[in-house]
Order: sequence, then structure tokens, then C-alpha cells
Amino acid sequence: MILVTGGAGYIGSHCVKRLLDKGYAVVVIDNLSRGHRDAVLTGDFVHGSIGDRRILEEVFTRWPIEVVMHFSALAYVGESMERPAEYYENNVAQTLTLLTACRDYGVKYVIFSSTCATYGEVERVPITEDTPIAPLNPYGHSKRMVEVILEDFDRAYGIKSCIFRYFNAAGADPSGMLRERHQPETHLIPIVLEVAAGQREYVEIFGTDYPTPDGTCIRDYVHVNDLSDAHILGIEYLRSGSPSMIFNLGSEKGFSVREVIDTCECVTGRTILVKEGQRRPGDAPRLVAEATRAKTLLGWRPERSDLRTIVADAWHAMRCCR
Ligand code: UFG
Repeated sequence: MILVTGGAGYIGSHCVKRLLDKGYAVVVIDNLSRGHRDAVLTGDFVHGSIGDRRILEEVFTRWPIEVVMHFSALAYVGESMERPAEYYENNVAQTLTLLTACRDYGVKYVIFSSTCATYGEVERVPITEDTPIAPLNPYGHSKRMVEVILEDFDRAYGIKSCIFRYFNAAGADPSGMLRERHQPETHLIPIVLEVAAGQREYVEIFGTDYPTPDGTCIRDYVHVNDLSDAHILGIEYLRSGSPSMIFNLGSEKGFSVREVIDTCECVTGRTILVKEGQRRPGDAPRLVAEATRAKTLLGWRPERSDLRTIVADAWHAMRCCR
């Protein structure tokens, strides 16, 4: 049985769908503070916090959990700068409660959602897993702290883990059953598509004076289903007795903000009103992954992470999803 924390959230809900499609038995725990109950596609759902030891005891007693996939976290960089206490409480302290329960109830494997925000502003792209770590904000720090806890839990208690550092998760399941639904929405692609759909007047470009070819920030957009597939490959990797490992997950291609907007115009056939604005504090000019390790050790083959497919899937889901 796989326990998915944060299975009502964007990436967690997509991963639950992929797990169910592949025949895995899944139970979800989510406090629904940011997630959506109707995004949980498994019948086994526990409404509660991973920081609540009593609820965790009920879960681990009721189901024989072999693998924990840990998605639940607060994940806004800007918010983390204003409310670090909540980020360390949610993302670190509550995760420690979860991992301690994993130890006590004999969970063998943990698959953890980390982020390219652990790298901070890098000197060189592409970014490998050996690029020095220098988070720029409490969100990135909180994810890095859990990575360190996992290393210690492996050494002391033998819990093996896959740590996945996502680049820019985007897109949606092509069925249209799930989609990105952040409140408030801060991510570029859903914002641009909301403009295309007439739900928002314009998109503001945060900075046009970066040292990039068109002056806007470059990011590596990776499809949420490809991320989910890496998690499932992670289960097989750990079951085969392989060592704990950190993996970058990205498409290995960088696109500027302007290129993303152009692609959204192409895919939707709508004109998107753009306003040029100031830089957003904390944005690195260019973040692009090297994902060789995931390809080599997991056999990961991202299938939907070309930008057009990402945007087309997100647009389709936006038009047919609840
Ligand atoms: N952007 C705009 N206008 C907007 C929204 C975004 O110009 O309205 C720009 C941003 O400045 C950035 C790019 O579009 O250059 C992508 O921004 P997102 O907010 O979509 O994503 P981020 O790159 O900021 O965030 C992602 C993940 C975080 C992670 C972070 C690491 O979503 O979880 O990368 O830098 F922490």
C-alpha cells in the first residue's frame, strides 16, 4: 500500500491517478488547507494533518504502508518570505512527525517532493544534482532541511528514499479530470491561460532586463504526469535494493517568459494581453535541469514535457475540469 500525503494537491492528485491507473493500492492523507477533495481519485482518503501523531497511528495501524510519497507542503516562495514560521512548521516540523511515525511503523521507503529552489541562484546551467546548494528563501530551506533529515533517517534507521527536485511543474492529465488549481494562482502557465480564457485581463511579465536573450527569465517546464511517472519508477528503484538518491526532474530545456506566452497564444489561438513589470524578488534569471541521473538510474523518459504539449494539456483541462 502506498500512502500519499498531499494527494488532494496539484502534483499529488496527478500522481495518485497514475498510481491507480497502474494498479497500485493508494491511501491519501490531506488536510485540505490548499488541496481539493474532488481531486482525490482513490476511495481511501483520510482528512487530517501529517503533523498529527494520533491520525498517523490510525493510518499506519489500518493499512500496511510500504511506501510514503510525501507531497504535502506549503509551496509559495513569496509567502515563505513573509511567513517563515508556517513554512518551517508545515514543511519541516510536521514532516519530522510523519517520518518518525514511518520509523515506528516500519515504513521502508519514502519518496519526497523537493525543488530546484534548493539550488538558489546558480552560476551555471544546466543544473546537476552536484550543483552547490544555496536556497534563497524559507521554502527552499525547508525542503533542503527535509532532505538532510532523510539522509540521517537512512543512516540511523535504514529508511531508503528518493528525493525528487522538481523544476517547474506544469500541464495537466490529458483526460482533463485534474488540473492546476492554486488559490491564489501565482504560476506562469495557468495565469497566461486564464488571460486566454478571459478570466483575467492581462499577464504581467516580472522583469524584462534579465541577462537572457529576450530579457525575461528562463525556466525548465516539466509535465506533471512525467513527474508522476518518475515517482512510480522510484518505487521500483527502491524495491530493487538501490541506495537513497537525489534526482533532478526537468525537461532539460529552458523557455523564457515571452516564449511561454507565445506558445500559449499559438495553442489557444487567443491574443494574450501582456504588461511589462518589475522583477519579482528572489527570481533567478535561468534555471534549467540536467536530468541524466533520473534517466540513467530510473529509466525515466519524459513523454509530455515539450512545451506545446504541456500548454495544450493545461488548456484542455482548464476547459473541461471542475
Ligand atoms: N512570471 C511572470 N508573471 C507571472 C508569473 C510568473 O513573469 O504572473 C515569471 C516568473 O517571474 C518566473 C517564471 O514566470 O520567471 C515562472 O514563474 P512561476 O511562478 O510559474 O514559477 P517559479 O519559477 O517562480 O517557481 C517554481 C516552482 C517553485 C519553486 C521555484 C524555484 O513553482 O515551487 O520554481 O525557483 F520553488
